Amino acid sequence: MTPPDPTSPDPTSPNQTSPDPTPSPPTRPHEGPVLEFDDVTLAFDGVTAIDGVSFHVDPGELLAIIGPNGAGKTSIFNVLSGVYRPRSGSVRFEGRELLGVRPHRIAAMGIARTFQNIELFAHLTVVENLMLGRHHHMRYGALSAFAWLGRARREELANRAVVEEVVDFLELAPWRRMPVGLLPYGVRKRVELGRALAMEPRVLLLDEPVAGMNAEETEDMARFVLDVREELGIAIVMVEHDMGLVMDLADRVLVLDFGRPVRTGTPAEVQRDPDVVRAYLGESPRTAGGAG
Ligand SMILES: Nc1ncnc2c1ncn2[C@@H]1O[C@H](COP(=O)(O)OP(=O)(O)O)[C@@H](O)[C@H]1O
Ligand SMILES: [Mg+2]
Repeated sequence: MTPPDPTSPDPTSPNQTSPDPTPSPPTRPHEGPVLEFDDVTLAFDGVTAIDGVSFHVDPGELLAIIGPNGAGKTSIFNVLSGVYRPRSGSVRFEGRELLGVRPHRIAAMGIARTFQNIELFAHLTVVENLMLGRHHHMRYGALSAFAWLGRARREELANRAVVEEVVDFLELAPWRRMPVGLLPYGVRKRVELGRALAMEPRVLLLDEPVAGMNAEETEDMARFVLDVREELGIAIVMVEHDMGLVMDLADRVLVLDFGRPVRTGTPAEVQRDPDVVRAYLGESPRTAGGAG
């Protein structure tokens, strides 16, 4: 028995043909998966980076994506955030098609990401970097007429309030006025998470959040990722090589190899799948419990 499809395209939803720069909030909560990645194929000259990959993410769920280097993990994030346009397939966020939607619109719709290599403004302070995460909320910033001043100021204050909440949530207060470039690596990774959270996303994409971290930094980040999921209820897609972290945090795991899905399952199911062990777990010197 087939339930009514909650994901069928909404003909009234703004798309690339609509110039509307301020997406309106959904009028009712979306039911069903928050994210659907449906038979997506992405090719560069001669290289098929993503080869018929499908997965979904339920509200509040943490899906981990694992696989060897070059498996296509970051490419999936680049498709989800509108940087790469796949050759075929469909990507839906709360039922709305994302293919063809520009990156800044996708971010404004509620998908935020962190990068495999930190992308922050090193000379700006923690608070300034987090304010940049609020950028898409600042509708009056470019206007200069007198009449807007009060409104712009109220908006600025509201944005600062969100940023302060993020500073508290991620325990960044000791570094708030420091240029990000001077901070320890683990704190910089946390600031990047903070910038994504400042966007008030409903889906968070984390690309190797603990790569290069020591054991203590890894533990801190794991705690914050759990808090994001449990206290803020944000759905998370996490690419990560640290199998201990993946097994601890993920509800489900998608295993990729050469752009192809090998297996999707719970951490326990994936860990004992012979194909997975062969494709990935066996080839890495890291085993479950390893911290980076
Ligand atoms: N912009 C690009 N141009 C050409 N090839 C790319 C590009 N981005 C990724 N690739 C190729 O796609 C494959 C998957 O890369 P990537 O998604 O970065 O893998 P992962 O994040 O799993 O290590 C690799 O073979 C990579 O070289
Ligand atoms: Mg990558």
